[in-house]
Amino acid sequence: MTAYIGTAISRVDGHDKVTGAAKYAGEFTASNLAYASVLTSAIAKGRIVRIDSREAMKVTGVVAVLTHENRPVMADNDEAYKDDVAPGGSPFRPLYDDRIHFSGQPIALVLAETSETARFAASLVHIDYDEEPHVTDVYRAREDAFALEAPAKPRGDAAKAFAAADVRHDAEYYVPIEHHNPMEPYASTVLWDGGGKLTVYDKTQGVQNVQRYICGIFGLKSEDVRVLSPFVGGAFGSGLRPQYQVVLAVLAAQALERSVRVVLTRQQMYGLGYRPAMIQRIRLGAKADGTLDAITHDAITVTSQYEDFHRNETTWSGLLYTSATAAYAHELARLDLATSCDMRAPSATTSVHALECAMDELAVALKLDPLELRLRCYSDRDQNGGLPYSSKNLRECYRRGAEAFAWHKRDPVPRAMRDGGELVGWGVATGVWEALQMPISVGITLSANGHAEISCATSDIGTGTYTIMTQVAADVLGLPLDSIHIRLGDSTLPQSPVEGGSWIAASVSNGIVTTGDAIREELLRMAQTMPGSPLADAQPGDITLADGMIVHKKGARRGVSIADAMRHGGVERIAQEKTTTFADDGAHAHNTHSAVFAEVKVDEQLGIIRVTRIVGAVAAGRILNPKTARSQIMGGVVWGIGVALHEETLIDHHFGRIMNANIAEYHVPVNADVHDIEVIFVDEQDDIVNPLGIKGLGEIGIVGVSAAIANAVYHATGKRVRDLPITLDKLIS
Ligand code: MOS
Repeated sequence: MTAYIGTAISRVDGHDKVTGAAKYAGEFTASNLAYASVLTSAIAKGRIVRIDSREAMKVTGVVAVLTHENRPVMADNDEAYKDDVAPGGSPFRPLYDDRIHFSGQPIALVLAETSETARFAASLVHIDYDEEPHVTDVYRAREDAFALEAPAKPRGDAAKAFAAADVRHDAEYYVPIEHHNPMEPYASTVLWDGGGKLTVYDKTQGVQNVQRYICGIFGLKSEDVRVLSPFVGGAFGSGLRPQYQVVLAVLAAQALERSVRVVLTRQQMYGLGYRPAMIQRIRLGAKADGTLDAITHDAITVTSQYEDFHRNETTWSGLLYTSATAAYAHELARLDLATSCDMRAPSATTSVHALECAMDELAVALKLDPLELRLRCYSDRDQNGGLPYSSKNLRECYRRGAEAFAWHKRDPVPRAMRDGGELVGWGVATGVWEALQMPISVGITLSANGHAEISCATSDIGTGTYTIMTQVAADVLGLPLDSIHIRLGDSTLPQSPVEGGSWIAASVSNGIVTTGDAIREELLRMAQTMPGSPLADAQPGDITLADGMIVHKKGARRGVSIADAMRHGGVERIAQEKTTTFADDGAHAHNTHSAVFAEVKVDEQLGIIRVTRIVGAVAAGRILNPKTARSQIMGGVVWGIGVALHEETLIDHHFGRIMNANIAEYHVPVNADVHDIEVIFVDEQDDIVNPLGIKGLGEIGIVGVSAAIANAVYHATGKRVRDLPITLDKLIS
């Protein structure tokens, strides 16, 4: 069953994407479409005292200005606004009342016959506020930070072991707020059909999540709201929760009883969620031989005043390193900002950064090669739970990564390696992520003419889901790739969780196998009743589908054509839908791992840093498609360069407002910042995690990259910068 799985086929949706045939949420249209422009709050906290929209309404082509004062009815309880992935607390309600929770909050929606008219008219709406004092600086809020949930249990007495250790490292690290900046802006087009049914094209990572959320807020029946998202131009976690534009679009469609499109501006994208800023203190105590006596990881992350977003912030060290003792602490600091949210490898990107920088500093203190230190602390068990891994080939990642990078040529002394006027630095770090899987349903309809339609409500957020689903289905059904048609991103399709957490590839692929089994069994039943059937005594496990045939595994000649079996059964097509769940044996930890090696070249006079080489060696179970897999890891690595050197959401704390809410001043890596990236996939057979042995790749690529770069910058310059991003001013000061 593996003709296509594991092969580097090109994206099946690639042609549609590069030719513009692929349509995104803001591109769907309707007759009599009204265009909206969102007006956002200029203050960070307080109340709206007065909204004067008279000037805006005078503009020719303006249809309405919707505010909390004149909007249609919305639910009045928190439960209705809780989506599938909402954190604890009281969710934000767009256009609900006069309260301002953050700068950039939507407070009015201007609707017009053209988008330009709406945008111009929005500039004429006058708002009077009653302002209240706000706090947007995590360093001011940290004194009031509070613990929400206990992290993993401490092991032993870490404080005592740290105090007694031969060699100690104790430092604080800072990662600022970052924004997702997907290429596609958030947008919703709501088609109003007059019969009370809504078709909603929305940018989201979960159409069914949005569908339930909209039905809850507006008291609509689920059969009356269909949410579609056939293509997503990047989301990275920002589309796990429904965003406010979809509420505004539905609100407006109801108010006007016509179709409406809402598209956010790039600036407004900074009023959505973000990667929470994180202050971390890490204490490592080691014996002179490089074995760890103590790890203490304390973190403060930020959230809004109204919700408690957080993840497993501090316990990654227990997944990576053997240590006699460990203690973790995590606190939340409230700011007058929107709620923070998941962003690619949430918590691992930031906390593994700090851990892996701290390990590098410990290696320097121990006078030990940083790669050797990691090998001496290597753990074959999740230290927190004591469980062995379903598979963990990190050792091979270290070995193959080091070999490809030529790590053995590294001079351990900082500032010792040069290339002309540039200092050369080499750094290493480890990455870790979770191998998750979620219950999912897949529908398969197989036609007698040899075509199959595979349906599931999952999204493809750009990761290649269309493509890997096609490959798996082709193998399961024994059909060529072009006989497979994938339907996804539609709330009416079989149930799927949001696409996130790197769990969809494993979930949907195994889901296709489950439903494929049911198809095969149905075909076998038909084939067995054929006169003189060569499969009369075959069990479902004995047969496979190949080249349009139902064949006995023990002899290709014992076969029946699928078309003949269906003709005999009197059907043109057979359809099955099955739900796949993943039993956890409770006896294993499931994780993906990576070893990242980075080379930087630093201009000694100017402090300009170039990341000239990255080698990322990844162990992530079975690789379904080396081509899309490589592109996932490369994307993660490029983003890791941004985390290390470029990205930072800057807030003017006086106004409580984001100052660089655009991709000119919010820096992300561009082509000139990206040089050699080598991706190595290390084999990992995993028969425990799931039947296909898939672990997911969407997030592991970013984890550890920023630390490898930061460690390389130290090695090049002898200067340790512990607050990201590492900009030249920090380096030469
Ligand atoms: Mo991912 S941050 O779960 O989209």
